[in-house]
Amino acid sequence: MHTSTVWAQDLEVLHWWTSGGEAQSVAVLKKVFKEKSGATWKDFNIAGGAGENALKVLKTKALAGHPPAAVQMKGPQIQDWGKMGLLTSINDLAKREQWDEKLPKEIANAVKYNNNWVAVPFNVHRINWVWVNPKVLAQAKAKVPTTLAELFETADKIKKIGLLPFAHGGQAWQDATVFEELLLAIAGPDLYRKALVQLDPKALQSPEVKATFEALRQYSSYLDKNRKGLDWDKATRLVMDGKAGMQFMGDWAKGEFIAAGKHPGKDFLCIPVPGSEDSFIYNVDSFAFFETKSKNTKKNQEQLAAIIMDEAFQKTFNVKKGSIPAVPTTKMEDFDSCAKASMESFVKTSKTTGQVPSMAHQMASSSEVMQAVYDVVEAHINSNMSADEAVKRLAKSIREATM
Ligand code: BGC
Repeated sequence: MHTSTVWAQDLEVLHWWTSGGEAQSVAVLKKVFKEKSGATWKDFNIAGGAGENALKVLKTKALAGHPPAAVQMKGPQIQDWGKMGLLTSINDLAKREQWDEKLPKEIANAVKYNNNWVAVPFNVHRINWVWVNPKVLAQAKAKVPTTLAELFETADKIKKIGLLPFAHGGQAWQDATVFEELLLAIAGPDLYRKALVQLDPKALQSPEVKATFEALRQYSSYLDKNRKGLDWDKATRLVMDGKAGMQFMGDWAKGEFIAAGKHPGKDFLCIPVPGSEDSFIYNVDSFAFFETKSKNTKKNQEQLAAIIMDEAFQKTFNVKKGSIPAVPTTKMEDFDSCAKASMESFVKTSKTTGQVPSMAHQMASSSEVMQAVYDVVEAHINSNMSADEAVKRLAKSIREATM
């Protein structure tokens, strides 16, 4: 009895926010949670971008009957864990605080299972960004690209002065992130949706998907051959330090620039992936809550959820994290120009068909399908596999993953 009381004062939180900018962002939450609840935040962080490793650890722990109380989780994963009956609903709190009125419908739906609130959203990350070091471009006498052709011209010029055109880490999720960004730029949001969300076999084998693999081949010719295992934030650091010119990455990369005291428009530029200006690949971070028998844990879960939904927290957290707030009434004055541009694009694309969920970041499909895409794109980028072959393998692997 005694130990269970002590245990109940802890709230175990599983997440993968371990880079410099990410750690500073989550530190804000830890601090407010401690102050408001008096409970101890039991940090369970598993390094590894895009949560590749965290997901595996969660499966082992939860299926063994010991899930953490709060878990960083997204999109279809929330539905999967909900279906297994392992998530707890925080409907009373949501009702009291009128979350249905506070959140855009798509975001609310993503954190509900079966109409029950089982998770809370932090933010919206935009994926289709390129991070640019303007000094490197000036040194190379290259211009800020506005088309994919110009992007590769700029890359050529950077290569000529002996610097790395693109910083790119060596992990499957980073390959898949660039793949979806190029697909959006080349094929547009409607075909992106058909291919990566609806998994339509015809769309998956379309000329646009082939062209995307061709562009990926060209892109990969500019990468460091010794990048295997390189983390995304180390790649961002190469851009920051003027060793590389550009990086394709979601706007958590901006969190790294900000944590290092860099300023947008001066030390770095954020440009939409050329060709994808009118579209928005979105990625919503959220915490899901696992069922518990302990009243104290439940109380702490609700406390944490209430903090995450608070506008003041949404502002402080997202200014550091690089994202825009999930709660649209949050004041944007203190956000930088990249965040303001992201918000503008998010609002605009919510009125068109320009918003699509990120496949590489668990927003669009089951983890089996996501893994199938990771595997094919990684195999393609690290070999001389033809675009035709890659298209064939992609369609086949996705078919098998959905059987
Ligand atoms: C998450 C971000 C995180 C990034 C790198 C993404 O999937 O949504 O919050 O910063 O992965 O780990």
